[in-house]
Amino acid sequence: MTDVDLEVHHSAEDIAAALRADVREGLTAGRKWLPSKWFYDARGSELFERITELPEYYPTRAERAVLDRQAAEIAKISGAHTLVELGSGSSEKTRLLLDALREHGTLRSFVPLDVSESALAEASNAIAADYPSLAVHGVVGDFTEHLGLLPGDRPRLVAFLGGTIGNFLPADRAKFLRSVRDVLSEGEWLLLGTDLVKERDTLERAYDDAAGVTAEFNRNVLRVINERLGADFDPAAFAHESYWDAEAEWIEMRLRARTDLRVAIPGADLEVSFAAGEHIRTEISAKFRPEGVRAELSAAGFTLERWWTDPDGLFGVSLSRAIA
Ligand code: SAH
Ligand code: AVI
Repeated sequence: MTDVDLEVHHSAEDIAAALRADVREGLTAGRKWLPSKWFYDARGSELFERITELPEYYPTRAERAVLDRQAAEIAKISGAHTLVELGSGSSEKTRLLLDALREHGTLRSFVPLDVSESALAEASNAIAADYPSLAVHGVVGDFTEHLGLLPGDRPRLVAFLGGTIGNFLPADRAKFLRSVRDVLSEGEWLLLGTDLVKERDTLERAYDDAAGVTAEFNRNVLRVINERLGADFDPAAFAHESYWDAEAEWIEMRLRARTDLRVAIPGADLEVSFAAGEHIRTEISAKFRPEGVRAELSAAGFTLERWWTDPDGLFGVSLSRAIA
């Protein structure tokens, strides 16, 4: 029999209150912005899965190529009894790690954590069905708030895949890595996926595909605000853009108002005006250099033990150990 349990940290009211606060802060700022976690309702999670299959979006394939080759080594080095996955989404690539840890003979439990309840429930059920002897404990929550005491036998391996670490601003990234370190004991493990700096064209196309799936994913944040806060955004009134900021070394996704607009957001007690051409920054996706990853991990209390890239050198995966 399968063994899944789901721990839900967010009620619909908590979600609406958090969104209200973020919308009030971001859409009244001089330069408008919204946190990227609000892309991921059920529709947003599905759109993200479609993005991972696009010809232009290389990170998922590149990271899978690394895990394909290195999962056995990761299992051997970590000897993990528990695999924790933050921002787990569909947990598709994670199966390579589960297979390797099972083969290695140490795996007992899997703890996926995601803000998207639909994605988490679907992935947890599918994995519990396919790995009958595994205890699956899903956590619906925010990885900036709900790391708490991660359950599971030690040693634990925390996987943070997909390059999602790049969706933090640098100061928040440092805080987040430190908070992961704080919930681990010395000697436990972090497996981190980081997309790498490369030429502008490849990057901008990865975030602005020909089929328009990323554009729909980007506009989905407006639909989420419409649904949860009763707003009247017309998503089609905003153009999707991806822009490589070569100095900051991150991709920015933006939604640019096509004309002067006024939007009512009753659930946030707000009316927001947009001048034609004004944009909302909806996501940053930072890209990394190996020496930077090592330094950031070290500043957070990890020592990098292994660094791998895919054969084309597009994406890096690091395995680090928590140190005193
Ligand atoms: N790890 C998967 C999914 C990456 S997409 C992969 O590599 O393909 C990013 C995932 O992180 C989504 O499933 C999204 O719902 C989740 N996410 C984004 N912000 C989050 C937050 N603050 N807390 C928890 N999960 C979050
Ligand atoms: C989840 N995260 C790593 C993705 C990224 O590439 O930054 C989200 C995404 N945004 C647009 N396409 C994919």
